[in-house]
Amino acid sequence: MAKILGGIATSHVPAIGRAIAGNLQNDPYWKPFFDGFPPVHDWLRKVRPDVAVVIYNDHGLNFFLDKMPTFAVGAAASYQNADEGWGIPTLPPYKGDPEMSWHIINELVEREFDLTTCQEMLVDHAFSLPLKLLWPDGARCPVRTVPVCINTVQYPLPSARRCYKMGKALGEAIASWDDDLRVVIIGSGGLSHQLDGKRAGFMNKDFDLAFMESLIADPEWVTQYSNEDIVEKAGTQGVELLMWLATRAALPGPVRKVHANYHIPISNTAAGLIVMEVAD
Ligand code: DHB
Ligand code: FE
Repeated sequence: MAKILGGIATSHVPAIGRAIAGNLQNDPYWKPFFDGFPPVHDWLRKVRPDVAVVIYNDHGLNFFLDKMPTFAVGAAASYQNADEGWGIPTLPPYKGDPEMSWHIINELVEREFDLTTCQEMLVDHAFSLPLKLLWPDGARCPVRTVPVCINTVQYPLPSARRCYKMGKALGEAIASWDDDLRVVIIGSGGLSHQLDGKRAGFMNKDFDLAFMESLIADPEWVTQYSNEDIVEKAGTQGVELLMWLATRAALPGPVRKVHANYHIPISNTAAGLIVMEVAD
């Protein structure tokens, strides 16, 4: 049986890719952000995952407004990183795990989540940057990956309640895989941010911190809100926090907070990081 070790949720911002490429980790602007990661590296060394299931939102690279799946799962042998226009260096391709992907797809469809299956899939900064932040050494990401994409680009978006249910089904699907794999769930998005419109630059520290705490103590807390409520509280792109919610929902039973970091701002985003370990 596959074992879900825990979940890591982090913000993604294209500028992080430039900071990594320019070795700016100790620059005063970047240090409080990058300082959040060494405890995560320690935890990953301890739990030794084989596979990362990465819940993220594409930003118009693999899916554009003409064809927009609500939920999509990758089933490719490898995933090419491409720069969708932010001017950041692309990273080497990521190894997939097609057998695990098809198991997850079959189980999710069985549980009434009608997915788009992607045997070819380009991945953008939301996928590549968390993996680089978690495994900074070496050119290539050392674990196999399964991308799970949630639409936060074109309305209608899935509700928080729906994303919670999908995450729960995803966790059950992974746990039922008949192979002794060690799996970590990664959630990439948020926290509060708004990139355009009258409230461009809007962030909400109080809401973000309450949301982060809720993932440990009361994981369904944010499902009381509609996406319109979440936009009001966290900004238009703040709905990316749905990735964190689905990540938490995929973890079986109670979790222990191993580590968290929160720093405002990185670019236009309130950057959060949390490591949640599944209680034995
Ligand atoms: C920024 C944040 C994002 O989530 C994103 O996808 C692109 C840019 C930003 O704050 O610059
Ligand atoms: Fe984003």
